[in-house]
This record gives sequence, C-alpha cells and structure tokens, in this order.
Amino acid sequence: MLHANSQLLVDTLVGLPLLNGRYSGLELVNVVGNDKRGFFSLVFKAHDELEDRAVALKFFDIDPQKQNRYRILCFEREHQILVLLRGASRCLQVMSDFMVFNLEINLPGQSNPIVIPAPYFATAWLDDDIDDYFNQQEAVDAISKLKLFNDVVLAVESLHSRSIFHRDVKVDNLRQQRSNGRREVVAIDLGTAARCDSPPMLPAYGQPVGLLSYSAPETFCGLAGNRSIAPSTDMYALGCMLFELFHPDDFPSALRFANADFDLRVSALQSRIGAGTHDGERMEAWDIEAPRLLNGLTAIRLSSESSSAPSAIIDIVSDLILEMTRANFRSREKSFARVRKRIWCAIRILENVALARRRSQIAAARRQARNEKARTRALRNASRLPSIAPEVA
Ligand SMILES: Nc1ncnc2c1ncn2[C@@H]1O[C@H](COP(=O)(O)OP(=O)(O)O)[C@@H](O)[C@H]1O
Ligand SMILES: [Mg+2]
Repeated sequence: MLHANSQLLVDTLVGLPLLNGRYSGLELVNVVGNDKRGFFSLVFKAHDELEDRAVALKFFDIDPQKQNRYRILCFEREHQILVLLRGASRCLQVMSDFMVFNLEINLPGQSNPIVIPAPYFATAWLDDDIDDYFNQQEAVDAISKLKLFNDVVLAVESLHSRSIFHRDVKVDNLRQQRSNGRREVVAIDLGTAARCDSPPMLPAYGQPVGLLSYSAPETFCGLAGNRSIAPSTDMYALGCMLFELFHPDDFPSALRFANADFDLRVSALQSRIGAGTHDGERMEAWDIEAPRLLNGLTAIRLSSESSSAPSAIIDIVSDLILEMTRANFRSREKSFARVRKRIWCAIRILENVALARRRSQIAAARRQARNEKARTRALRNASRLPSIAPEVA
C-alpha cells in the first residue's frame, strides 16, 4: 500500500488534464494491487502531446520514509547518466530535463497552500517486460531464452562500453521493445548506476548500492562503490539471471542452499575488509582474505532433474554460470563477448539437435512411405498373379 502522501501525489497527477503543459493521461504503472516494482519511485505511463508519443514519467516517491539524501542524489544522478546516453543504441532514452512538480495542499490554519516538491523526468516508454522468460520457463523454448539472454548481455555491454555500470541488473530492470523490426532489450533504472570517472557518492559503501538480491560478495565488503570492480559485479548479476532462466529457484537461495555457511564466510570477509580506510587498503585485504575465505564453496550446477535446460547444453550453460558468478571477482569471467560467444555456441548445438531430429523424422517418414509403397506393390502383384498364370487344362 502506498503512503498517504504518495497516494495524494498519484491522485493529483492522474487527475491533471495536462502535466507541465505536455503530458496527458497519466497512469501509474509500477503499483499493481499490493505489488510495487521499484522502491523509491512512482512510474507513470503518459502521452507526450508535444512529441506525440508514449513516455514513462519517473517520480521520486514522496513517502517520508524514502526521503533519504543518498537516494535523492542517486535520482538526480540517474537523470545525468541518462543524458550521457542520448542516442546510444540499446540504452534507455531520456525525453526531458530534470523537473519538479510542486504538489500544493491546502491545510486548515494555513493561509497559503503548503508545497511538497516531487522531482521527476521522462524517458521513452518501453512496452514489454521480460518476466515470462523466467516465470514461464517450461513454456518458453531454450533457444528463445538463450537469445533473450544474449540481448540482455548486449544491453549491459552497451552501458559498459560508455563506462557506465548498472549495478542493479535484474529482471525488473530490463524491458524489451521492437526497433527496426528487431527485438531489443534495454536496461532501465540507472538509479544505482555509476560512471567510471564519477566520484563515489559515499566515502565507503559498506553495503550493496541497490536493494540487490544479486549482490556479489565484494559489494558487502566496502567495495560496492569501486568503479574498477563494478563491471564484474554486473557480470555476477547476469550469471544469476542465466541460472534463473533455466532453474525455478532464485540464484541467491540456491547458492545458500548448497552452501549453508555462505553468509558466515561473507561476514568474516566483511569484518576483515570493511575496516580498511580506503579502496587500496580494502583491495589488498581482499587479495589476502578472499581466496582463503571463499575457498571450498560448492558450485551450483544445473541438472537435468532440476532444470529446464536441455541435456545437450546443460554443461556449457552450467560452466558459463559458474564462471560468471565466481565469488571472488578476481577469477570471474570478464568478457561479455566471450559470454555471448558461448551462448551462441549453445544455440547452435540446440539448432543442430533440432535439425538432426528433423532429418531423422524425415528419413523415418520416407522409410515408412517406401515400405508402404513396397507393400502396396506386393499386394497388387499378388492380386494380379492368377490372371497371369497359365490356365491349367
Ligand atoms: N521506460 C519505461 N517503460 C515502461 N515501464 C517502465 C519504464 N521505466 C520504469 N518502468 C516500470 O516501472 C518499474 C519501476 O521503475 P524503475 O526505474 O525500475 O524504478 P526503481 O528505481 O524504483 O526501481 C519498472 O520495473 C517497470 O515496470
Ligand atoms: Mg527498478
């Protein structure tokens, strides 16, 4: 349920004929019943009368419990990062300046209305989520899932190629659209994203920067703000997603199920590394402590009983997940190109399996037709035989 202040903002915006002289028909989209997507925002679909197109309007939620200085700065930075991505392919396109809507409320005993500022900005509207690939995984074929994953990797890669690291990669934060007749996945929600050259907004991040369920161990150890590790942290999240495309459990639960002591190890690591006063010190401590404390973890692999991955690609996908989600970022896969190459290798294997199956079905059908024909011929011949046989006097 929304806070009363947030609800008042929603009701006011939805009741406006035109917001800021250009946005009409506002409809809240990230709250459905008691489910809310995203914690700090209120997102509306609207029609931009000026550009004559659908847009998403992202407001910072005015719930008093969410008025956290760091989060508000993140929201401002999100817009700044989006501006840098203007024109970049597979990247969310910002459609407005950073704006503020002043919610005016008349209160008894006040001669003038009180004003609560609600910051917001507009982005391109992206029609579809990618939920079904994960939630209906038995119903979606493996090749489609791998192709989706390839597009997800391309979306994150596109950000990285511009030195922007998402740091909250997850299903909720990815959407798809058709562009020039081809499907394109786009990463939304750059609220926790960072630029390589921007200074961290907090001196040390003791905790993950997003409300992440895919937080890699380094993000708990005061290294969440480290720009040189950020690419590996996104890689880890992508590995978790690859696992979840083929397994009904979420990766963090599966990891803890296989390693009941995982959080103890991370806590020990956190206490040894988090004490460091600067990143150099923390990185040095990581290189001493992490190999020891993270050694001996049980790897999670897909199996034919527990997963929806066809047996022909179980090993290739399992190995890839393992390399993308290595607890020590030093040994984690670094190259997105290599990841995509292996995904395409799995796709080709499945295509070949399908082709071989089709060929053997065609061969079997031909064999059956031949046998059928031979039988018919034999029957025909047998029925003709008496007329051909010489008559016996
Ligand atoms: N550009 C967009 N197009 C369509 N839906 C969007 C768009 N941006 C956000 N949404 C919807 O709003 C939800 C929350 O937006 P998000 O940017 O992730 O906010 P938060 O920072 O609160 O997580 C998304 O999961 C998605 O359902
Ligand atoms: Mg989000």
